[in-house]
Amino acid sequence: MAKTILFVCTGNTCRSPMAAVLANDYLKKWGFKGQAFSAGLGAVPNLPAAKQAQKIMAEWGLDLSKHRSRALNEELWQKADLVLTMTQAQKEYLQQLAVDKKVFLFKEYAQGENKDVGDPFGGSEEVYRACAQELAEGMPKIIKRFRGEDVVKIALGADHGGFRLKEIIKEWLAENNYEFEDLGTFSEEACDYPEIALKVASKVAAGECQRGIIVCGTGIGVSIMANKVRGIRAALCHDLFSAKASREHNQANLLTLGERVIGPGLALEIVAVWLKTPFAGGRHARRVAKIIDYENQRFDN
Ligand code: RB5
Repeated sequence: MAKTILFVCTGNTCRSPMAAVLANDYLKKWGFKGQAFSAGLGAVPNLPAAKQAQKIMAEWGLDLSKHRSRALNEELWQKADLVLTMTQAQKEYLQQLAVDKKVFLFKEYAQGENKDVGDPFGGSEEVYRACAQELAEGMPKIIKRFRGEDVVKIALGADHGGFRLKEIIKEWLAENNYEFEDLGTFSEEACDYPEIALKVASKVAAGECQRGIIVCGTGIGVSIMANKVRGIRAALCHDLFSAKASREHNQANLLTLGERVIGPGLALEIVAVWLKTPFAGGRHARRVAKIIDYENQRFDN
């Protein structure tokens, strides 16, 4: 699924439209699936981009003539996978709205600098040019990082009770071009499921893998163990509805399955749905945030 970047400024007539057109140009040039768009926190709707911005973009072969300003709304917000603001104040304001959304300052995401992209509004063409150049300089780094973050690596594991299904899932992941790391077990010889569950959950919690899948006989033992690791939301799913909901509602980062409970056909369908379903955010984000808050209190004290 194509991913989207939302650039946010104040009026949506200068900085953010220039950023979006530059980003779309890179996405296209580099053959990356994805889309950039823009909005303003205090935008008057339907205004064209500033004449200076249009002129500079046109000199660079980019068309801003059709841009019309728009205020940030729920639909645009929901659509965005990554939100980049021009100023720290805009970032802080947006971060209060949703905990699940990735919101960064433009320069922070591009080059790790907590600096604003200044507002050229009302300035001369040279002021606009300096702003456009700042955006153009950061953009290749932004697009590269954005694409890199799209890569999902899966930590995979099983005890002896789930070994055969784990092998089948592994084959399916390879055929479907998923990156994965098999953390064992590597035979049907009896072993202890808490150990393997801890290995897989730790990889995901450390951010080395973005998702985890663990199989045991029932899926229960590994799910109990994995859920004791900070940052893990493991879901035991033996039907497609739960698999989908565990992502949309609970932002589950680990799936557990029982080889002795379901057949491989259904298991693979569950894996496919679970990997493809994004978190729905919104009211669910508030609830997931409460789980994270509890965890933070428990582990920090
Ligand atoms: C192993 O026999 C079995 O107990 C284990 O695979 C799992 O089902 C634990 O929950």
